[in-house]
Amino acid sequence: MPDESNQKHHAQPHGGTRPRLDFQEHLADLEAQGLLVRVDRPINKDTELQPLVRWQFVGGIPEDERRAFLFTHVVDAKGRRYDMPVAVGALAASPRIYAIGMGKPVEEIGATWLRAIANPITPVTVDSPTCQQVVITGEALRGPGGGLARLPVPISTPGFDSAPYLTATLCVTRDPENGIQNMGTYRAALKATDRLGVRMVARVGGAGGYLHWLKYRARKEPMPIAIVVGCAPVVFFTGPQKLAIDSDELAVAGGLAGAPIRKAKCVTIDLEVPADAEIVIEGVIDTATLEPEAPFGESNGYVALEAFNMPMRVTAITHKRSPVFTAIISQVTPSESSVVKKVAYEPLFLTHLRDNLSIRSVKRVVMHEPLTNLRPVLFVQFARDTPRTEVWRGLQGAATLRPECGKIVIAVSEDINPESTDAVFWSLAYRSNPIEDVHIAPYRRGVQGSQYGSQQSESTMLIDATQKRAMAPLALPTREYMEGARLIWETLGLPTLSAKAPWHGYTLGDWTNTWERFAQRATAGDWEQNGIETLARQRGDVMPETPVRKIETLD
Ligand SMILES: Cc1cc2nc3c(=O)[nH]c(=O)nc-3n(C[C@H](O)[C@H](O)[C@H](O)COP(=O)(O)O)c2cc1C
Repeated sequence: MPDESNQKHHAQPHGGTRPRLDFQEHLADLEAQGLLVRVDRPINKDTELQPLVRWQFVGGIPEDERRAFLFTHVVDAKGRRYDMPVAVGALAASPRIYAIGMGKPVEEIGATWLRAIANPITPVTVDSPTCQQVVITGEALRGPGGGLARLPVPISTPGFDSAPYLTATLCVTRDPENGIQNMGTYRAALKATDRLGVRMVARVGGAGGYLHWLKYRARKEPMPIAIVVGCAPVVFFTGPQKLAIDSDELAVAGGLAGAPIRKAKCVTIDLEVPADAEIVIEGVIDTATLEPEAPFGESNGYVALEAFNMPMRVTAITHKRSPVFTAIISQVTPSESSVVKKVAYEPLFLTHLRDNLSIRSVKRVVMHEPLTNLRPVLFVQFARDTPRTEVWRGLQGAATLRPECGKIVIAVSEDINPESTDAVFWSLAYRSNPIEDVHIAPYRRGVQGSQYGSQQSESTMLIDATQKRAMAPLALPTREYMEGARLIWETLGLPTLSAKAPWHGYTLGDWTNTWERFAQRATAGDWEQNGIETLARQRGDVMPETPVRKIETLD
């Protein structure tokens, strides 16, 4: 168990300042808040476990009501029972669950990331870590049911995946030149009781671990690697986050935690891992050879087809005395994998535009999540009256920050909710003129990875759908009338409302005192006074539909 101070500091579920540094305490927090479903009946990890949790993402359940699952009676396709429970969705089934892991309210996730990246806290080394209460090495790693076969590793996409895969990983490697460790979340396929197939993105801007692999290979040396499965949420969250190369994720995790993370030396290799992790798999990657890996359902929504990737020979498996095995639900979005990335990446885009590029009028950057998997489609929201030149700098900045992000970038104004594609289409329909507001730039790298087609490069589409001139008000009753009516709605016992913006009218710059007076009189029952005024303005020298402002000056 972690030191007592962790427990004392974690009091408030949402307003808390210190996150849990032990995964099982985090699970207990989720359970206490009704955010964990405990499944005690037998569940087949190869065919039932991930599909059951998948229903939560494809079954019409609102994001905020998604929960973590803890399976306590896990069996496999051969009827074998596992003694470790399996947690899925416990890290990021929803931003709410992620926020509990951060020990912060949802609204503070972005700012917490930026603070932690700017103020990392060096980890401390401990002896006799809890993650090494049980150590399995040598012959115990081999033979039927031994080694990796002891772990209840689920199949993520039954029917397509070629193996059970580790998904909630932190793959720790060390730069052989400067000694700095990297931790990335990379998938790993079970190949034998003592062998995994690890896949690290090899494209430009690819995985930190891949850059290390290139260096070891150039030196003709094997690469030590430790795969952490299950740890404090703040430690895990640094895995999928895009941190600068050579920044130590454990120190950034310390920044998130507001305290140093405890780390420990591995048993068989020269790497350091989070001391309070649930399970650690130690091993080496032979950099002289590669092995076919996949098919495996990917986060871009398609199945990654077989490709040559890195075989890892396992040298030790260490774990807590009673560990919980952690898996993440990924593949078609929304998923746990997309939530974990969305809340972490969006603040990086916002600071890039606002602070690095000094585009002060940027309000939000939103990555489109359902089905598209965040990276291809971005929305940038601007304050009203932002000059066009600034809108275009923002569009270009968002499209170029990361090679894999921003194939389509759409700028909208402050009153448009970028989380609502309906609202974005509304903006495209009425606030953009494609011939002048859409630009296509060549030479973008494909978003899906090399194995999905022969196309060498794609292009970027930038669209300015912001409000460019004064527009007439939005034609819904103004706020006070909608709020008043809502109270009546509730007293009538009608179905519970879940308001979707826009739900009230507001002005967009084109409105006069005359029309405001008319509207106020109308709601006060004085419509006849308006008729008296317009009677006095009757004329015979115009055709129907002639705008009054062409003829008269209105105040
Ligand atoms: C569930 C999940 C699975 C992922 N799988 C992989 C993977 O197999 N290979 C990979 O290179 N990146 C994968 N990623 C993305 C990386 O974790 C992400 O790009 C991260 O920033 C990599 O860290 P690094 O820059 O230190 O390499 C995955 C992310 C998540 C959330």
